[in-house]
Amino acid sequence: MIRTASLALTLFIVSIFLPGSTFAGGPEGKKIFEAKKCGACHQVEGPAKEKTIQDQLAKKGPELWYAGSKFKKGFLEAWLADPKPIRPLEYNSITKKNDGSHPKLSGKEALDAAAYLMTLKSSAVKDGAVQPKDTPKGRAIFIKRQACYGCHEVKVRGNAAGGLSGPSFVGVAMRLNPDWIYAYLTNPKVFKPVKDMPDYVGILTYSEMRDLAAYAATLN
Ligand code: HEC
Ligand code: HEC
Repeated sequence: MIRTASLALTLFIVSIFLPGSTFAGGPEGKKIFEAKKCGACHQVEGPAKEKTIQDQLAKKGPELWYAGSKFKKGFLEAWLADPKPIRPLEYNSITKKNDGSHPKLSGKEALDAAAYLMTLKSSAVKDGAVQPKDTPKGRAIFIKRQACYGCHEVKVRGNAAGGLSGPSFVGVAMRLNPDWIYAYLTNPKVFKPVKDMPDYVGILTYSEMRDLAAYAATLN
């Protein structure tokens, strides 16, 4: 009797953590994703399909097939209900300002859609590899040595400053998983076979990329 009860409890606990479990809101979120036609602009199945710059330009939105490895759940829940521009410029544009007109979800839909997106993981991301840390080394590479700052804005004395061509780094601490940032820098082809950002493999050491990921993950 006790064994049956404890087995049931174990199954219940396991089911909460299973990807796509009812308790985690996965299936409802997937239904919302389909009903709202999010897939018209977002790819939810990996691996990356784009091979040429034309393939990249044909995409209407960033790929989400590794969203669960890239984002923090709390960010997705809040952003889907109240989206604000992440990229200062419109997706795939180098001139037009991003007007922030992303489809909005209601509170419950946003929670379910976020739970679904969190089930989309990439095996190229190692959990627990990088802890957020503001080191002078990471900061120096970001601002001066490699001029990440020239394409990614950060907050300087309370105001956003820096380049506009890449996604904003204001709020990365809330938005991105540091382990994903490290994986993105060390293994960019997995996530973006075609992209506008320089490839730093062979230019920066793995230790420098770790410092950068740790530093970026502290940015508010
Ligand atoms: C008309 C195309 C379009 C549709 C439909 C659309 N999105 Fe998006 N989505 C975008 C674009 C463009 C961005 C980039 C926005 C930015 O950078 O501010 C984006 C960004 C996102 C992001 C952040 C991704 C990242 O890498 O920064 C998430 C999460 C997301 N969308 C989820 C959804 C969900 C869920 C739906 C359905 C309710 C949806 N989107 C519908 C175009 C679309
Ligand atoms: C020449 C401009 C440029 C430089 C320099 C640059 N980036 Fe980027 N970065 C981009 C662009 C553009 C993207 C978006 C890629 C895409 O969506 O195809 C990006 C994306 C990223 C992302 C993913 C952000 C997200 O929300 O999806 C990270 C992390 C990143 N860059 C880190 C860095 C770091 C660290 C450096 C310096 C070592 C750097 N970048 C230098 C242009 C640049």
